[in-house]
Amino acid sequence: MSMAAPRGKVVAIDGPAAAGKGTLARRLAAALGLPYLDTGLLYRATGRRVLDGGGDPADPCAAEAAARALQPADLERGDLRGPIADQAAAAVAAIPAVRAALLDFQRQFAAARGAVLDGRDIGTVIFPAAEAKLFVTASLAERARRRHAELAGRGMAADLAAVTADMAARDAADAARAAAPLRPAADAVLLDTTALDAEAAFAAALAAVRARLGAA
Ligand code: DC
Repeated sequence: MSMAAPRGKVVAIDGPAAAGKGTLARRLAAALGLPYLDTGLLYRATGRRVLDGGGDPADPCAAEAAARALQPADLERGDLRGPIADQAAAAVAAIPAVRAALLDFQRQFAAARGAVLDGRDIGTVIFPAAEAKLFVTASLAERARRRHAELAGRGMAADLAAVTADMAARDAADAARAAAPLRPAADAVLLDTTALDAEAAFAAALAAVRARLGAA
């Protein structure tokens, strides 16, 4: 199979929560031989750092200091998932100075060898010149169903209606945020995974990215 060497290329994967972009991004990175960064972890780890210091994640000064102090090892913490980390991440993500501090971290991550990054603003703000951009979506009902199943798989009982409501609220917050609201880049390939299983979604994503990298 022939394809242009992806070395040094940037692949931006954006979309709402539970659309499947993390799984896709990780698999794309492995298939293309590129480093992978889940940028949601940066916001989660920043929120955790603020909480560690006894601060409020919505406090711009505390949150910016935490973002500037972020170390790669922070992304390995075991407490970056769950409702407390979700809320802290959403709070710090709304602060422009936090986003500015984390922009450098993300650009440096990709500087040496390129990367696949997934998040909300990779193709619009962090890497507007990325060689390949995907915007991964699925219906609210399907994303809530997946998140509910994932929680059940981890032994965490949850009510589907509550998961759906929580996801709708996060969507609204991500889209309404003044700083880098969630929206597809004009040159992103849209991939709706509502009716696709994991294999079909990956095949479609890989084909789209290879087509873009081949043309880049
Ligand atoms: O993708 P996630 O659920 O791990 O993201 C955690 C939070 O960080 C969520 O509120 C969205 C926000 N986020 C962001 O604003 N920009 C990114 N590039 C990634 C995540």
